[in-house]
Amino acid sequence: MGKRNMHKVLVIIYNFLLITCRLSLLGKGDLRIAKGSTLSNCEAQHIYGKGNKIIIAEGCKLYRCSFLIKGNNNVVVIGKNCQMSKTSFWIKGNGNRIEISDDTTVGNNCQFAALEGTTITVGKDCMFSHDIRLRTSDSHSIVDNRGRRINYSKNITIGNHVWVGLESLMLKGSKVADNSVVAARSIVNKEFKDKGCIIAGAPAKVIKEDINWDRKKL
Ligand SMILES: CC(C)(COP(=O)(O)OP(=O)(O)OC[C@H]1O[C@@H](n2cnc3c(N)ncnc32)[C@H](O)[C@@H]1OP(=O)(O)O)[C@@H](O)C(=O)NCCC(=O)NCCS
Repeated sequence: MGKRNMHKVLVIIYNFLLITCRLSLLGKGDLRIAKGSTLSNCEAQHIYGKGNKIIIAEGCKLYRCSFLIKGNNNVVVIGKNCQMSKTSFWIKGNGNRIEISDDTTVGNNCQFAALEGTTITVGKDCMFSHDIRLRTSDSHSIVDNRGRRINYSKNITIGNHVWVGLESLMLKGSKVADNSVVAARSIVNKEFKDKGCIIAGAPAKVIKEDINWDRKKL
């Protein structure tokens, strides 16, 4: 077989695999995967409700990722050139949004849970290690003596170029600013507005300021 024919056959196989992946992903929601993104062994079979969307931009590589959405008008957006493995997107309630920006990488067994009408926003070029959880709600109520809830859900915001260390937990209202590092096994439960910090511990506190980080071992 000539080089040109071989190329045609490869293109046909590639398109077939792409369509197969799309089909296995198709739940009741609206799924848009840009050309040039590959999804292998991903599933979105548990999508219940109306107006839910999963939008994946070009150049992404997703492996064994799962999407669970129960509710209406929820959105998951994954930006260009993101790479994720065994990541779960977990949404319950209406009007939640999970947005992961371009060039972000997510290691094994991470979970993004947006609940009760909240948003998780992750900036560009972030690096999530493995076994990390982000959740915008406690999922059950804590009430004061008058029966009023005191633990409302809150958005989570991660800036651009943030490195989140392994086994970290980011709870409702967490905010981490650009160029920061979250140390391994940290529990983040409030806003860290200053850029270029290392935050560590449970609950997390700033342990170093005026830093940045690099994916390369310099
Ligand atoms: C965050 C991290 C990169 C910082 O490294 P560092 O700049 O060399 O920090 P140091 O070792 O100088 O530690 C500074 C202080 O923070 C404390 N600290 C560091 N990591 C901590 C953590 N995970 N939890 C709590 N405290 C921590 C240290 O005990 C030290 O405290 P001290 O000043 O009272 O002695 C590193 O601690 C870490 O968590 N590495 C794991 C990264 C990871 O998850 N990699 C997986 C591959 S993506």
